[in-house]
Amino acid sequence: MTQTIAYVNGQFLPLAQAQVSVLDRGFLFADAVYEVIPVYAGRCYRLQAHIERLQRSLAGIRLHTERTAQDWSELIEALVARNGGGDIAVYLQVTRGAEARREHTLPAQPTPGIVAFCQSRVPVAPTVLEQGLAAVTMPDSRWRYCAIKSTALLANVLAADEARKAGAAEALLVRDGNIIEGTSSNVFAVLDGCLTTPAECDAMLSGITRAAILELAARHDIAHAQTTALSTAALAQAQEIWISSSTREIYPITQLDGAPVADGRPGPHWARMFALLQADTGN
Ligand code: PDD
Repeated sequence: MTQTIAYVNGQFLPLAQAQVSVLDRGFLFADAVYEVIPVYAGRCYRLQAHIERLQRSLAGIRLHTERTAQDWSELIEALVARNGGGDIAVYLQVTRGAEARREHTLPAQPTPGIVAFCQSRVPVAPTVLEQGLAAVTMPDSRWRYCAIKSTALLANVLAADEARKAGAAEALLVRDGNIIEGTSSNVFAVLDGCLTTPAECDAMLSGITRAAILELAARHDIAHAQTTALSTAALAQAQEIWISSSTREIYPITQLDGAPVADGRPGPHWARMFALLQADTGN
């Protein structure tokens, strides 16, 4: 992408010129929610699902906007068009806007702040697909409402940094002995031939890629299950482990906490789902 056009509170303009107030509550309190929508050859993938999750996140932080699903869709499509389409990702953030003073209490009638911009999507490196990636498990120190896609991501960012320092690509977060998700991904494991993923709960973001994978598994008769208890012990015995997200699609995890996952190579279940997902995205 050469020239990136952003959207800020009603205006399209070059990203370098895009500005918001320092009193914006998104900046001061992370009082904001967001979405990341992947775009393949100019087409948004599962846009309606992203918009529905945005609306759930907005309701989750009690932020009302006048915008309908159709309005969000038009805004996102217009931004993609202004950026020339291609293989990109749209970042969209909605904050509770700026008031005259910094106050913790919620303003009675906020004017939401809306910012969106595009980034290029880096294709999965062939070595990643051949070798897979390493992950480490880590205690989940985030707040309890991670189903809300809030911009308050400091705990995620610090955990991701710890993972990187440990030579891993992702930290898998553990609460009460069970895997919840990654710092910016959902988690799947193949256990006794069954594709298994943590069930939706308040503590986990319900990924759009995760939903696509479950839908594809159902459509292609691939045994799958959602569980409220994916223990670290079960994960250590998994035949395969994957992570999924809108920007990373599905990556095979071939090393967990320094030990190989099964034979330490991406497995056949992953290869099949990777192909199904590529077909679904139209890639
Ligand atoms: N993150 N869990 C967390 C904590 C995430 O941040 C994400 C995605 C996911 C996967 O959700 P989806 O499949 O809808 O992308 C799960 C985005 C990509 C981000 O923060 O950049």
